[in-house]
Amino acid sequence: MQKLIRNVLAAALVAGAAPAALANEGGPELMKPGFSFDGVFGRYDPAALKRGFQVFHEICSNCHSLSLVAYRNLAAIGLTEDEIKAVAAEREIQAGPNDEGQMFNRPGRPSDHYIPPFPNEKAAAVANGGAAPPDLSLMAKARHGGPNYIYSLMLGFEDTPPDGVHIPDGKFYNKFFPGNAISMPPPIQDDAVTYADGTKATKAQIAHDVATFLNWAAEPELDARKSLGLKVLGFLAVLTALFYALKRQIWKNVH
Ligand code: HEC
Repeated sequence: MQKLIRNVLAAALVAGAAPAALANEGGPELMKPGFSFDGVFGRYDPAALKRGFQVFHEICSNCHSLSLVAYRNLAAIGLTEDEIKAVAAEREIQAGPNDEGQMFNRPGRPSDHYIPPFPNEKAAAVANGGAAPPDLSLMAKARHGGPNYIYSLMLGFEDTPPDGVHIPDGKFYNKFFPGNAISMPPPIQDDAVTYADGTKATKAQIAHDVATFLNWAAEPELDARKSLGLKVLGFLAVLTALFYALKRQIWKNVH
């Protein structure tokens, strides 16, 4: 069934020469580390989600916003109410006006959306050599290859670009970034975080965890969607068996 749908879609894409599907053409093939949520039976790995959040929070959130995720949504990946309160209160957000008509700052609350690191896009661009770090809420859906792209991008930095490739000042060579010159400095190395659950924080582990977390941010309902799909298939299988039995019963004496 899935294959049929995929083939029909593929045919439609080829017919329409969908540019998005071909965006990565010419670039090296993305790394595919395999994720717990791959395939029909795939589900998020709760421990990986928590580690991935830790990476986002400690590293990526210094530059990137995550505007579609409210702090209280993090309960879904296992943060306790107290942890959520503490995480939210780490940053301040502008609120008001108060009775005197003044705006004021207050600490974040669980109902706030993840508070961005910069007050506006201009400020974000100025602080990052002219390129504002994009919001990461839907990044796993926005780029061809999704979590594989994020994983590859994290591991695709190289200190010395290949011969003949010129990288302007303030940019970095990344073999998976379209055009290869990216304004993001390499954000992770081995042991860039100390995992709360004791997992060894290799660069690949960190990349894998943050890609998992960002996929959850973009598609938090994946687990529910896949369970429902399997239940529907199971229901249809039982219904088919019942109708088959019924048909045999009804036609038993007809020759
Ligand atoms: C020092 C600031 C900084 C940090 C820290 C940082 N980024 Fe970035 N990131 C940027 C900037 C700037 C861009 C825009 C790059 C460009 O367009 O050239 C970017 C772009 C991206 C993109 C989009 C690439 C594309 O295809 O357009 C992804 C995905 C990304 N970052 C993921 C991450 C993740 C995951 C982390 C944490 C592990 C992280 N970033 C940490 C600054 C940062």
